[in-house]
Amino acid sequence: MELNLKGLGKKDMAAFKELPKNREKIIHSSSSSPIRTDYVANEIGALLHPTVQHVKVVDIIEENKNTKTFVLGPNIDAGTKKLAYFRPGQYISIEVPIESGLYRRPYTISCSPKNVFDNLYTITVQRKPRGIVSNYFLDSVEVDDTFTISGPMGNFYYEPLRDARNVIALVNGRGITSILSMAEAIKDGILDFKLTILYSARAERDLLFKQELEEISRKNNLIHIEYILSDEDKEEYYYGHLSKEIIEPFLEPETSFFVSGTNAFLESTNAVLKEFNLPNKYIRHDAFFGKVDLFGNDPYTVTVITSEKEYTLTCHHTETLLSAMEKEGIPTNSRCQVGECGFCRSKLKSGMVRTIDGVLRKADEENEFIHPCVAFPESDVVLELPF
Ligand code: FES
Repeated sequence: MELNLKGLGKKDMAAFKELPKNREKIIHSSSSSPIRTDYVANEIGALLHPTVQHVKVVDIIEENKNTKTFVLGPNIDAGTKKLAYFRPGQYISIEVPIESGLYRRPYTISCSPKNVFDNLYTITVQRKPRGIVSNYFLDSVEVDDTFTISGPMGNFYYEPLRDARNVIALVNGRGITSILSMAEAIKDGILDFKLTILYSARAERDLLFKQELEEISRKNNLIHIEYILSDEDKEEYYYGHLSKEIIEPFLEPETSFFVSGTNAFLESTNAVLKEFNLPNKYIRHDAFFGKVDLFGNDPYTVTVITSEKEYTLTCHHTETLLSAMEKEGIPTNSRCQVGECGFCRSKLKSGMVRTIDGVLRKADEENEFIHPCVAFPESDVVLELPF
């Protein structure tokens, strides 16, 4: 490449030649004391985006026999003075040691961001048939128990520059927690959009936070709620399953959909939304575990290499590599557990895995990186963790 030096005078060239010398001089004459980190901007950055937060359970509310809400406050003794601000719909990942295992699970923050000013988060945990962590929370966690959690994470939040002002939330099960947080934020004047909640359940008794939601909607004309019950035919409730006909009366020329709930619900809801032929930007999903067909000839041997140690464990074809590592108590770096955040990204040194379509970037695929949270073994596997 030829340099175009036209327009440069002799003086410029002389100064240019002196540059390295002058730079050396400045480096040698600068202070040898460490760079300051106590700037206000750094403090605010650490408060808004902490890597870890230490919390303790300050209250437990029984929602029904299989669901509890845990109120978390900062664990000052462990070094957290203030909880980080979050956007309604975001989650925290909580680290839970149970017997010899070390588990992490994402839980949506269900309260209003206003509660952060009182140094509180709430998370709601529902019993799952084989849910090691959810069952542990429901059966064993008590007030004053302490945990380490991540900063708030996830992209399932309302963004006025992107989302329409008319929002229809399609929810079932624990998916209501993110929408409750948005409704609370509208009530508190933190968010400003029109929210219609179409809440599906089997029966009335399965509707979580019904009273709270109704109270909020009574006092705020931006919020409207309807229920759809599949197993109970009751007055003032839709009977059956969510359909195009139920949604239509709440549509406006510009409407965003926020979909949150179980995997089966998300799949059936997507099929309904397809009938509207909407551009993708109008449909937002809470994180969910995509579909994957599993084949295998169990059990497989998994070798896990970290910078400190090498572990050997077994994993079945119906189990993710992450879950097998958690059971062995191997420290992992997961957050979302559905292949979205990239925190668990690891190198597949050898072996074959089946994973959910579309979760890996092309470069990761080409360089044999996988997300163990959504990867199921199909042979013996050697995996290298990034720490
Ligand atoms: S934990 Fe988020 S991608 Fe695996």
